[in-house]
Amino acid sequence: MFRVSFILLLACCGAMSATIDVPMLKMLNDREMPAIALGTYLGFDKGGAVTSKDKQLRNVVMQAIDLGYRHFDTAAIYNTEAEVGEAIRMKIDEGVIKREDVFLTTKLWNTHHKREQVAVAMKETLNKTGLDYVDLFLMHWPIALNEDYSHSNTDYLETWRAMEEMVKLGYTKSIGLSNFNKLQVATVLQECTIKPVALQIEVHPQIIQEDLISYAKDEGIIVMGYSPFGSLVKRFGMDLPGPKMDDPVLTSLAKKYDKTPAQIVLRWLVDRKVVPIPKTVSPKRLLENINIFDFKLKEEEIEKINQFNSNTRYTLPSFWQKHPFYPFDMVPNPIPDPFRSEIKS
Ligand SMILES: NC(=O)c1ccc[n+]([C@@H]2O[C@H](COP(=O)([O-])OP(=O)(O)OC[C@H]3O[C@@H](n4cnc5c(N)ncnc54)[C@H](OP(=O)(O)O)[C@@H]3O)[C@@H](O)[C@H]2O)c1
Repeated sequence: MFRVSFILLLACCGAMSATIDVPMLKMLNDREMPAIALGTYLGFDKGGAVTSKDKQLRNVVMQAIDLGYRHFDTAAIYNTEAEVGEAIRMKIDEGVIKREDVFLTTKLWNTHHKREQVAVAMKETLNKTGLDYVDLFLMHWPIALNEDYSHSNTDYLETWRAMEEMVKLGYTKSIGLSNFNKLQVATVLQECTIKPVALQIEVHPQIIQEDLISYAKDEGIIVMGYSPFGSLVKRFGMDLPGPKMDDPVLTSLAKKYDKTPAQIVLRWLVDRKVVPIPKTVSPKRLLENINIFDFKLKEEEIEKINQFNSNTRYTLPSFWQKHPFYPFDMVPNPIPDPFRSEIKS
């Protein structure tokens, strides 16, 4: 399944550029998903989701396509659907890719969980991207909210039924879940007519999600891992406890495989059959993050990285803890107070 090839193309100027051939994973509905996705959430500030300036994100996505990225992760709440879609359309117009070569994942936001709202949200997404369909439409959270962000009791099963309609209407090729716990996934599996093909959850060395990943695998659901770098990078502008880039376990593996600690962690996800979703806007790190398909970690090396597990989440919306469908254990948030109410994803 993990076909790896590395094609070197000599550009006419003499400079060398690399296109990396990303392996594909077969989904429950026989469609295929590229084994790494570029994250496009740019964070938040006082004004909400940070938006791209001067088409920065569009240009990053275009560079990513040139490097071999074929999977992009966005969401209605990220405010990045338009530039991701524009980049894809421009690369199609340039003849670099065809629409069917790219896999676009996006997500339904919590304020659009009522049956009639789902189609409205889906059409807004298609309008923003300028595409006829998306490849994967995820329910971002099991949590429904009213427009004013007060809690709504809309059941995620109602939302799921509406998402199934979106497949039947051809607006999305596949549907899936994000931030659902095991019981909630099981509930959807029991009631659905179209199975979720993917589950997007937080996975990094500090939250290895052994149980949920093994359950999803048993059900044939592909796990996509968000915030893959965990504590290796600053979160909310802060250094948080946990392994860093100079951790001896990671640096010794990096030395052994002639890779960076960041690449070791991404490969750790790939070797666990999890699709990593690293976000970067740096051209150098774009290449670094996708250049992970020419080596493989040994079982005992995967286990060594597993030992960092402390079940620490960075996406922990404690302000939704009283919601009837809150998916996580009730634990204190590791992020200091001033940031809590700001986290929208
Ligand atoms: N479903 C959900 O609820 C949910 C929640 C959170 C995130 N997500 C998805 O997952 C994506 C990634 O999550 P994330 O942004 O939280 O975390 P992340 O990808 O683990 O970390 C991003 C940070 O790492 C830096 N970085 C990237 N590559 C690096 C490298 N090779 N070496 C050193 N630093 C590097 C980036 O900076 P530069 O940009 O400067 O390189 C950025 O500061 C999001 O963009 C989004 O698509 C989904």
